[in-house]
Amino acid sequence: MADSLTITDNRTGETYELPIQYGTYPEYGAAIRCGELRNIKVSEDDFGLMAYDPGFTNTASCKSSITHIDGERGILRYRGYPIEELAEDFSFLDVAYLILNGELPDQSASETWESEITNHSMIHEKIKKFMEGFKYDAHPMGMLVSTVAALSTFYPESRNVEDPDVRALQIRRLVAKIPTIAAYAYRSNVGFPYSYPDNDLSYTGNFLSMMFKMTERRYRPDPALEKALDVLFILHADHEQNCGTNAMRSVGSSHADPYVSIAAAAAALYGPLHGGANEQVLRMLNEIGHVDRVPEYVKRVKAGEFRLMGFGHRVYKNYDPRATILKGMAQEVFELTGRNPQLDIALALEKIALEDEYFVSRKLYPNVDFYSGIIYQSMGFPVEMFPVLFAIPRTIGWLTQWQEMLEDGDQRIARPRQIYTGEDQRSPS
Ligand code: ACO
Repeated sequence: MADSLTITDNRTGETYELPIQYGTYPEYGAAIRCGELRNIKVSEDDFGLMAYDPGFTNTASCKSSITHIDGERGILRYRGYPIEELAEDFSFLDVAYLILNGELPDQSASETWESEITNHSMIHEKIKKFMEGFKYDAHPMGMLVSTVAALSTFYPESRNVEDPDVRALQIRRLVAKIPTIAAYAYRSNVGFPYSYPDNDLSYTGNFLSMMFKMTERRYRPDPALEKALDVLFILHADHEQNCGTNAMRSVGSSHADPYVSIAAAAAALYGPLHGGANEQVLRMLNEIGHVDRVPEYVKRVKAGEFRLMGFGHRVYKNYDPRATILKGMAQEVFELTGRNPQLDIALALEKIALEDEYFVSRKLYPNVDFYSGIIYQSMGFPVEMFPVLFAIPRTIGWLTQWQEMLEDGDQRIARPRQIYTGEDQRSPS
């Protein structure tokens, strides 16, 4: 079997042979280079054929060795390790190290990495002042997006994106500072004084402290909730070429610095069709209000009035493996926090949807956002913080993807083509 594609252009009768490229294994993806299509022309001065793919539903924008998803089989792996095993046995920071470096850290590397991150968790006092400028009810995701972009002005050397040492420093700064900005955004909203990082706590323990510390001298996170948040962070750390990551790579491809690139990625994540969906799920469950009203709600979804938030995925045409883990984790968290009544509505909704022909035929299953919001809410996070809680762990994924893009000799500035459908040249007279 030849690894190529033969195309006959029926306009000209010409035949073209296009080589087929593979990932690690043929079943992990096969592709032709779209650039090859440009040779397919009807005449010498013809522009050549393009590939038309709105929403990039079938376009591989890069080669990547970070995350593997098999949407049909519900598989998610970081650097080859199944998400279930990572969530069970490792800390978020160790998984972040794995995503960035390709291998899990040994104990010494793990300790060094943790202390490097911890050393950068403070933010400049002027950033704190900057954040005080937001309106009292500013959405924390808007605050995060703007503040992380503002960090760019504090670290002008970050523009030197081609220097690996400069990149390494910005990566550590960003992974460390995003939780601090996130927690400050929350405290600003509720009117509490900002709580400085506590470097003796774990990454997630410190985040909980910055969020919820009140007058106590030392905040001690509940170990079970700290672990639950750590697992949530692991599940959200990377997800290959989603809308936010695509924004990160696209903006970063112009060699913009990583702070403004992360701001762009976080802005993409904020949308209700992406990471903003977890917030929308909770609003939807509130609107439904009672298990008895679920069938009526599903009927309206099927009538096309609105979408069932937390359902469906561009890649998963099976149960999202992250949702499976979260569904189990919800029960564990509720043993500590008390059962969230929204869970009963969510379970009823899921049951009806999974049996209904509309959802079955479209392969619509719960995605990661379906259960994460209920868990966050039970842990005491307000709904507005949900997309922010997504952005914190996704930062390492964005940065690793950005670095991979910069080191990939195939990559150039992201600049798609269009099929022009407007007027031909004309004159106003
Ligand atoms: N509720 C009802 N119908 C849906 C839903 C949904 N949640 N999702 C898709 N559909 C239907 C569409 O109406 C369409 O039906 P049709 O063929 O009759 O027109 C069909 O399923 C295919 O939908 P598309 O929009 O083409 O699927 P796409 O891959 O473009 O969209 C997306 C994926 C955006 C996630 C979509 O499923 C959706 O809007 N879901 C709700 C929002 C959500 O939960 N987003 C979080 C995704 S996970 C994440 O980003 C972390």
